[in-house]
Amino acid sequence: MNVTVRGRTQHHRTVAFDRARNAVLLVEQRLLPHEFKIVATKNFRETAAAIRDMIVRGAPAIAATAAYGLAQGALAFPGRDLRKFHRHVETVYQTLKAARPTAVDPVNAMNGVRAVMRAGRTVAEQQSLALAAAEEFASEDVRHCEAIGRHGAKLIRSGMNILTHCNAGWLACVDIGTATGPMYAAQAQGKKFHVFCDETRPRSQGATLTAWELAQQKISHQIIADNAAGHLMQRGEIDLVIVGSDRTLGRTGEVANKIGTYTKAVLARRHGIPFYVAIPLSTIDWNLKRGCDIPIEERHESEVLGAWGIITSLQSAVCGPQSTKRVYVRVANPTSGARNPGFDVTPADLITGIITPVGIFKPKELWTQRRKLGFTD
Ligand code: MRU
Repeated sequence: MNVTVRGRTQHHRTVAFDRARNAVLLVEQRLLPHEFKIVATKNFRETAAAIRDMIVRGAPAIAATAAYGLAQGALAFPGRDLRKFHRHVETVYQTLKAARPTAVDPVNAMNGVRAVMRAGRTVAEQQSLALAAAEEFASEDVRHCEAIGRHGAKLIRSGMNILTHCNAGWLACVDIGTATGPMYAAQAQGKKFHVFCDETRPRSQGATLTAWELAQQKISHQIIADNAAGHLMQRGEIDLVIVGSDRTLGRTGEVANKIGTYTKAVLARRHGIPFYVAIPLSTIDWNLKRGCDIPIEERHESEVLGAWGIITSLQSAVCGPQSTKRVYVRVANPTSGARNPGFDVTPADLITGIITPVGIFKPKELWTQRRKLGFTD
């Protein structure tokens, strides 16, 4: 998407690769919305750390990062011995896979890269196939989001108020976004609508990332506290909910997404509001048979017990350009601990439809339409 910083507009992808430096380029999302910065990870371990520490986050974005990280690790191998090379690639794969457990996209993306690599007869051939496959995954994600936008825009009418949770925008993908794809497409069609961004505690991806994206894109929006959605729904102030997903089960239609998604789905059902989930094909898990088997990431309690923000230096506010410093402040009672599950699972019966690159389906139709949706035995 286009990013305007200090009056200068430039197109950026969330994730890209610099072949000359063998580096993965990432938007440093922990600094947004206060600072826009691109960082380069120099080796696959740094790339895995960037996923783990949430410099990059969002299922398709960490998938593209893992695909590039796998290529980066493969390209760094110095010898010609194929057996040693495969052992090295396995280490790279496992390191990247372990970085975050809930999203299935990184695993699907890396499996795709490894399948393409098998056609190479030498280390050098497999190395260049790995990078080509990672580039193709990133470009396919962009095409998927464009197609999600085309299908999903039909759900949006002028005058609507739309609720979204967390960030399933271009920062969570390579470009465009899944939940935001239909919004950007509807905007391009001249439709006027308003978006409520759930703040999304504890890390506040809605308040920081989605709100920043929508502001950049000049879409009318407001941030709401996570607890406000029920009240707005009860008063008829929300017409449609669109969220993303980290893992959608192809066999059951259950959807894992940011903690609080399930709550919003229950509220939407109570108030008769359509609840849609937007996903690229890399988000579908065709193996797991039960939502309760989805690994749910448990994150550090400090995220719940406090919050990150910036302090604007008073001196520089008076004297010239403002300098910003990102700081953590403790909010909770000092002697209390916290529990911090990062995701929850929404049952299929609460979901009106799943917006995919090949059309909108009822959750249970994912399995009956599996060939169309890329399932292979
Ligand atoms: O913990 P995060 O910020 O990686 O969680 C992101 C989400 O839950 C998104 O909704 C999901 O990855 C879909 S992104 C298209």
